[in-house]
Amino acid sequence: MISHPPEPFRIKMVEPITLLDRKARESAMQRAGYNLFGLRSEEIFIDLLTDSGVCAMSHKQWSAMLEGDEAYAGARSYFRLAEVIQDIFDFPYFLPTHQGRAAEHILTTCLIKPGQYVPSNMHFDTTEANIRARGGNPVNCIIDEAYISNLYHPFKGNLDCLKLREFIQRVGAENIPFGMITVTNNAGGGQPVSLENLRAVSQIYKEFCIPFFIDACRFAENAYFIKLREPEYAGKSILEICSEMFALADGMIMSAKKDGLVNIGGFLAMRDKSLFEQASNELILHEGFPTYGGLAGRDLEAIAIGLREVLEEDYLSYRLGQTNYLAEKLLEKGIPIIEPAGAHAIYINAGMLLPHIPKEHFPGQALAVELYLEGGIRTGEIGSLAFAYPDPQTNKMVHPRLELVRLAIPRRVYTQSHLDYVVEVLSRTAAKSETIQGMELIYAPKLLRHFTAKLTPIQNSIVYNGKSLNAVG
Ligand code: F0G
Repeated sequence: MISHPPEPFRIKMVEPITLLDRKARESAMQRAGYNLFGLRSEEIFIDLLTDSGVCAMSHKQWSAMLEGDEAYAGARSYFRLAEVIQDIFDFPYFLPTHQGRAAEHILTTCLIKPGQYVPSNMHFDTTEANIRARGGNPVNCIIDEAYISNLYHPFKGNLDCLKLREFIQRVGAENIPFGMITVTNNAGGGQPVSLENLRAVSQIYKEFCIPFFIDACRFAENAYFIKLREPEYAGKSILEICSEMFALADGMIMSAKKDGLVNIGGFLAMRDKSLFEQASNELILHEGFPTYGGLAGRDLEAIAIGLREVLEEDYLSYRLGQTNYLAEKLLEKGIPIIEPAGAHAIYINAGMLLPHIPKEHFPGQALAVELYLEGGIRTGEIGSLAFAYPDPQTNKMVHPRLELVRLAIPRRVYTQSHLDYVVEVLSRTAAKSETIQGMELIYAPKLLRHFTAKLTPIQNSIVYNGKSLNAVG
């Protein structure tokens, strides 16, 4: 077996990228307020900010787009997509949305009352924010192993069933309008969830009559991990595994910008007719008529093809092989990452790499800024900048347990030599880690602050007793 299968495609169209010189990178970063979301795309050499909406589409997807039916209602493209969704996920009702968070918005608006709770293995930032925006409380019940970054567990995205059961009994099932699970677990290292765990979680939600929704952005990558790591599924096709996964749920939310292999799109699917009717009204209010939901007909065509292409095993083995390649090279250089590698990204343990920077000074953001300055690489912070929040009782900041920097790999975009370059820049950065300074916030909105926050490096920072102190303030 080939350990890192080569790309199962050839490149037909190219987009030039250039590396700006160090001085230009420094002034770009300053202008962006030390927030990588503030950079312009041309200022970046390798963009690993996200794997979302940045994939390369296939020739079949591009040609299907020409067949897009742009009718306001009843478009042919809608029915094509409906057939594919039926085949893979088999929910009786679905609604297209312009992306995943629109599906989250609709679901949370329809179901959550202020003060209620929504458990999951781990919510991602937009899901968490949508729940909070409706006055709800997102609750993470991930297994403890997920927090030990160098511990091997085949399904580190699993939800801890004991924690879930205790939580439901503590707050009462009537205060939980629905429960979730995210596959793969993006906020915790892109780690998969086993079918055994999905079954057990579904059983608990059923027992308490709590509707169960899967956040399915990376469902195919998760299904491939099941095939590789859960022996009874070794002989099953990805489609068969998906059928088993989704048969356990009452519905799903999907950002097609990931495993839909498209640049825009999403959907919401469910079994319950009255929820579908309520969600359709919300959709019409915010997104569009239920047969297009905020997308063009051509987008629906591209999703319909992408959802089938993503199930191909040569694609999935190349995809997981590529991430694994990056993980192996980084580990060889002694860079701490979440192990084992997930499918869509590598997560560097910035807290471990920069122990002199306390959580309040954003070690993940400091590392992400440095990677851009060192080599024009854009990554994303998944730590205190994105996930710390004020405790509603004490107003003290509650920090996430891990301070991570995510290197998300766009689908079908970068080659192995791009990844070799990333390894080189990371090892140069790690070699001078003690010189990297913490960051301070100068502006931040209340919700989803990492997207628009402005920061500044802590000037004249001195290292004392393993803590970074601001010598000025
Ligand atoms: N759920 C998960 C697990 C996600 O990773 C994302 C997006 C969403 C929901 C929302 O989907 O972007 O289409 O609105 N994650 C992207 C990322 C943004 O970079 O991980 P969306």
